[in-house]
Amino acid sequence: MKKTILSLLLLVATIAIHGNDKKKRQIEFKPAQEWFDTNGHPINAHGGGVIYFKKTYYWYGEHKLKGKSEKQFADGGIHCYSSKDLINWKDEGIVLSVDYKNENSDIAYGCILERPKVVYNNKNKQFVAYFKLYLKGVGYKVSNVGVAVSDNPNGPFTYHHKFHGGGSPYGSGDFSMFQDDNGELYHLTVRKPDKAFVIGKMDSDYYYPDGEYQICGGVDAHTEAPAVIKRKGTYHLLGSGSSGWNPNAARSFTTNNLLGEWTSHGNPCKGINPIDKMGPEKTFSGQASYIINVRGKKDTYIAMFDIWKPQLPITGRYIWLPIQFKNNKMSIVWRDSWRLNNFK
Ligand code: GAL
Repeated sequence: MKKTILSLLLLVATIAIHGNDKKKRQIEFKPAQEWFDTNGHPINAHGGGVIYFKKTYYWYGEHKLKGKSEKQFADGGIHCYSSKDLINWKDEGIVLSVDYKNENSDIAYGCILERPKVVYNNKNKQFVAYFKLYLKGVGYKVSNVGVAVSDNPNGPFTYHHKFHGGGSPYGSGDFSMFQDDNGELYHLTVRKPDKAFVIGKMDSDYYYPDGEYQICGGVDAHTEAPAVIKRKGTYHLLGSGSSGWNPNAARSFTTNNLLGEWTSHGNPCKGINPIDKMGPEKTFSGQASYIINVRGKKDTYIAMFDIWKPQLPITGRYIWLPIQFKNNKMSIVWRDSWRLNNFK
């Protein structure tokens, strides 16, 4: 009896210590390792993006449903987290849920809702969320860009409408929403079905494409997972090839004119992810999703990648790595762990 009580106490203590461990304030980025929110739960925000608003970062990503595989419809909507330091993230909840009640809704449960990105429209004082939307029962063939809006960065977002991206009746796939210094917003995306990489300007409400899309000269067709930033007058594009959930080599491009010709610089990744045992030829086992411009720190950018787990997508992990620029080209070197203060 004494022994049983003792082992029970030991078990409780172990659980308590372990639980505290997960809730512990984190001080480093640990690419490819489990990443816990401030409640001690694994962060569930895949294919995401990060914005900065009133001294707080907001991370929006795909909320993957527990126990589901990609084939069983794992998409639950957009999950949001907030943080002051980009490492410790507070759960802000699901800010746009798929609709479990109305089968006819564009975002009915069973739709595919991927790669959410949020942009703040200063003109309308509105947060606009975009995501890849494949209607229930349609599969990946015909794509839409879903649009949802909110007055607050931490939601709730209301579904607004959808449009076919890329100017094609089949829509477009992975995308980046790039907001230029003058507030103009661009949709850069891989068009279906020919997989040309195209760019289109959005209207001033940021709701619909404003005019035609054009092909981005110099950017390889089949470029997916695009992330675009502007640094010192140069636009940088980081992306991947096209191989579904399986990783492939990253690719990068630059231009001085968003609507002009791009120059290819190949794969910016170097080093090996020892956890998944993958190097640059597989982007450390990840696929790009966004580049964060870190505030209050000069010339500091973080590349975000996802490690996809299509069998159990909720277990997908994240790779966040600093970007260094050499001769105006990006370089992304693997690190087992790193801090914002000492990555240079
Ligand atoms: C990837 C894409 C993901 C998802 C996947 C499906 O290339 O980046 O967002 O759509 O294909 O196979």
